[in-house]
Amino acid sequence: MPQKITPYKDSQLGKKEQVTHMFDTISKNYDGLNRVISFGIDIKWRKKVVDILKKEQPQSILDIATGTGDLAIALVKTGAKKIVGLDISPGMLAVGKEKVSHKKLDGTIEMVVGDSERLTFEDNSFDAVTVSFGVRNFETLTTGMAEILRVLKPNGTLVVLETSVPTRTPYKQGYNFYTKNILPLIGKLFSKDNSAYGYLSESASVFPHGENFNNILREIGFIDVTNKPQTFGVASIYIAKKG
Ligand SMILES: C[S@@+](CC[C@H](N)C(=O)[O-])C[C@H]1O[C@@H](n2cnc3c(N)ncnc32)[C@H](O)[C@@H]1O
Repeated sequence: MPQKITPYKDSQLGKKEQVTHMFDTISKNYDGLNRVISFGIDIKWRKKVVDILKKEQPQSILDIATGTGDLAIALVKTGAKKIVGLDISPGMLAVGKEKVSHKKLDGTIEMVVGDSERLTFEDNSFDAVTVSFGVRNFETLTTGMAEILRVLKPNGTLVVLETSVPTRTPYKQGYNFYTKNILPLIGKLFSKDNSAYGYLSESASVFPHGENFNNILREIGFIDVTNKPQTFGVASIYIAKKG
């Protein structure tokens, strides 16, 4: 199981409360920072998630840890009739709701506060579930993934987009330098929350990726599990099915 990394080292609160507080605090800067940190490539990665799901023609999609809703909004291109964006941080959701309304997508996208580890949906509710840059923030990864499996319909598809760590030289060294030196600096310069971007890179460096994450999905009960490394392996897209 992944080592538990929390945003605030001296806090007595659990990871879930700390993560909620951190994302509430950075919610207004989140989109801008995302573009700076990933040089805008995050948009391309989310588009790949959409392209993967488009082929499946899902009618209903649950986007877990939707944050400010970028993936939920992009998923409209799959043709799904109903998209639910769920997040534990009311601050992130508030930014997302505004974007959804601005794009006049309220009829398709519903943004709801909720905890991925205690979903309130019935079993077998959604054709597809997506999570982008969310799973490594779960307090208990296996509980969150088991809940996803429960609410997916049989033959439904899970697509996870998450940071990973390049394993090949010189990308590995470049990535280490960037996450240890540049990323926390950008965080300090642009964010009100000094801990946040230290947490984001630290949690990325210890989070299971590639075959390790595939195996966690298999142990939980997903089938046909594959992963596609993106951009030298700095992110990965995982695809899995419910049997
Ligand atoms: C890095 S942001 C990703 C947001 C968005 N998916 C994106 O691609 O930009 C991670 C999000 O996960 C949410 N999150 C963390 N733990 C969660 C949980 N247990 N249940 C629901 N959302 C959670 C946070 O509030 C935050 O908005």
